[in-house]
Amino acid sequence: MAKITVVGQGDCEFDGEFSMLEALDEGGFDMPYSCRGGNCGACSVRLISGEVVEIQTPVYDSGEGEILTCSCIPVSDVVIELI
Ligand code: FES
Repeated sequence: MAKITVVGQGDCEFDGEFSMLEALDEGGFDMPYSCRGGNCGACSVRLISGEVVEIQTPVYDSGEGEILTCSCIPVSDVVIELI
């Protein structure tokens, strides 16, 4: 189990959900998303600390230090920031 902290908003637990986005949804966060498939970039956030691994290969090319919450899961406690 890993803790996901959203800067300025709080935190929730990742407990085997399909994606970080799903864990954030279940944690009550109103996260931006659209395709959930790594195509649109709507779910892009800044990864402040911690490690993630991709669960699908995104088409969208996120910027340096950014991750797609629909396309990864945390493998340690992570801190993310909305952008
Ligand atoms: S929701 Fe579209 S890339 Fe994540």
